[in-house]
Amino acid sequence: MDKEMAQTLVRTGPGTLMGNLMRRYWVPILSSSEIAQPDGPQKRVQILGEKLIAFRDSSGHAGLIDEFCSHRGVSLFFGRNEEGGIRCAYHGLKFTRTGECVDVPSAPQVCARMAIKGYPCIERGGLVWAYMGPPDKQPPFPELEWCVLPEPHVFISKRLQECNYLQAMEGGIDTAHVSYVHRYEVDTDPMHAGTKALDYIKADGNVVFEIEKNDFGLTLYGRRNGDAESYYWRITQWLFPWFTLIPPFGDHALGGHVWVPIDDHNCWAWSINFQPTRPLTADERGHMERGLGIHCEYEPGGSFRPRANKDNDYLIDRVAQKERRAYSGVFGFSMQDASLQESMGRIQNHEAEKLLPTDRGIVMARRMLHEAALALSQGIEPPALDGSKQRVRAAGVLLQRGLNPAEWAREHLADGLTQPVFSI
Ligand code: FES
Ligand SMILES: [Fe+2]
Repeated sequence: MDKEMAQTLVRTGPGTLMGNLMRRYWVPILSSSEIAQPDGPQKRVQILGEKLIAFRDSSGHAGLIDEFCSHRGVSLFFGRNEEGGIRCAYHGLKFTRTGECVDVPSAPQVCARMAIKGYPCIERGGLVWAYMGPPDKQPPFPELEWCVLPEPHVFISKRLQECNYLQAMEGGIDTAHVSYVHRYEVDTDPMHAGTKALDYIKADGNVVFEIEKNDFGLTLYGRRNGDAESYYWRITQWLFPWFTLIPPFGDHALGGHVWVPIDDHNCWAWSINFQPTRPLTADERGHMERGLGIHCEYEPGGSFRPRANKDNDYLIDRVAQKERRAYSGVFGFSMQDASLQESMGRIQNHEAEKLLPTDRGIVMARRMLHEAALALSQGIEPPALDGSKQRVRAAGVLLQRGLNPAEWAREHLADGLTQPVFSI
């Protein structure tokens, strides 16, 4: 990737090309449960390089406002969340969830010019989402399957990933890596074990990709040998600008991710599991809460930083590596991915990489993001703003060798939420 393109893709702060593009979509900010109580403790959050405060006001509405008071810049983290807004602890200025200033005790007449920024928020799938773009361009609400299912069907966790969002998200697009770093753990993980999918994945490490551009992003078809007459296709969806849907394993819960920049050196990796037709069982939820599957264990203290992190070499176990219990010696799918992606540096040197044919998916996603960011700067609206475009599923299927997987997908995965789940 050349320098201009790399710089455009990785910079997401206010006023950057990619930052402007991302701000045209609803942005996952934090779990609703992190601000569970009206007038409960507010939380500092940083998203797309902006320092903000999330809180639930007296009416129960989630709010997201500038962290700092317009008077002399005090952090509203130390303010009082009560009576419909946050009051700055220093001289008592009061802000509602829209950022409007409703009280300046010492000079009420200046209220109108003391407003701070406040972003509209909605709650979907147990998350608070904010719209951080131009007010007149607010898009329809997200309609990803896990956003519209009843809450008992869905489990969501987030973890801090200490690198740029792009290299993290690319791991979700590049399904070729599943045959390597995750190779051994899939046999023992309760959310992958015992599925036919694993036999095919392990037997054939040379995935052949076919990729289709469509109106929400990309559909990636990864072909491995199946049985004598068939291929095993893993069909991954990448949706603008940061969602992926993971091809499922057997009857286990479906999965997906969202990668949201905190700043250019860190991102939130959201991991989602869901069952379309039934609530998650206590067992399934228990596994997820314990950090199995695509989730992880945390350091104590509520930072959402994984317990296995770069300060402890992700708890690498060389014996387990030799004994073929963990391919890289790191345990846990998300930490296997994060360890490799963080090892590239906070921002990977994209100019130095030498890409391979299996990277076609990430190359196309980069191009589409880059094109959309440049186009937006010329007044062309971003793709896939309409939530109805997000009603797709991933799949893992055996198809007859002559069959065109894209044609199959058009019939079975487009508006796929009304169809059966295709998973082996
Ligand atoms: S700094 Fe907030 S009221 Fe003075
Ligand atoms: Fe992975």
